[in-house]
Amino acid sequence: MEPREATALDEPQLVMRRAATRFEHDRIAISFSGAEDVVLIDMAHRLGLDFKVFSLDTGRLHPETYRYFETVRDHYQIQIELLLPEPAAVARLVSDKGLFSFYKDGHGECCAIRKIEPLRRKLDTLDAWITGQRQDQSVTRANVPLEQVDEAFSTDSRSLTKFNPLAHWTSNEVWSYIRHHDVPYNSLHDQGYVSIGCEPCTRAVGPHEHERAGRWWWEEATQKECGLHGENVVKIIG
Ligand code: ADX
Ligand code: SF4
Repeated sequence: MEPREATALDEPQLVMRRAATRFEHDRIAISFSGAEDVVLIDMAHRLGLDFKVFSLDTGRLHPETYRYFETVRDHYQIQIELLLPEPAAVARLVSDKGLFSFYKDGHGECCAIRKIEPLRRKLDTLDAWITGQRQDQSVTRANVPLEQVDEAFSTDSRSLTKFNPLAHWTSNEVWSYIRHHDVPYNSLHDQGYVSIGCEPCTRAVGPHEHERAGRWWWEEATQKECGLHGENVVKIIG
């Protein structure tokens, strides 16, 4: 691989500054999964950018992730808004199909209820959001840009912008940052977890495995998106 330009390492910070300048404080937020995307929160903190932060609490996260939310909240003295799914929709799903239907008929239905609907509700109140997506995470993300119009969540009346400041960073660069700046991280990372989502749909990976191998491992790599980043799936299979 070609050596990287030194300036590329500042790219995420430049994107975050640009995002903060372009959008009103109340109309933009960081979407934090409780994993290595904590670097976005750390960068914002160091840059003095007071972005709002939200997380999708699916009700199925690991206990370690819930604890980690508290660690991040305390460390940076920030609020993390937890977005909950519609109780009636969850109740209907689990009484019709049980708690683990995704192993039988795919993760789409459960993710739609526990992640996508609450995310849509939140994004309806914003003009822009910031995610930790990276190109090296998956075949579905190979073309993720630093900034895009979010085709999946824009509506006829409003265009939603999506920033992916870490798009060009590798996993190694993320971890160098975490170590260099002594950033608190999810303790699951010390147990072999790399990409972290819901507990029943995430497993640790071996040293030889790709990081996404631990997500929805019973499904095809091209389907390993839950709809949060729906445009990635449209690009690869459309
Ligand atoms: S996922 O779509 O497969 O679950 P992934 O875990 O790779 O996504 O995370 C990519 C980015 O999506 C994260 O950096 C974060 O911005 C957003 N994201 C994923 N899961 C959540 C979550 N539970 N809450 C908020 N944002 C999330
Ligand atoms: Fe449901 Fe699994 Fe999707 Fe979480 S990742 S919302 S448990 S299907």
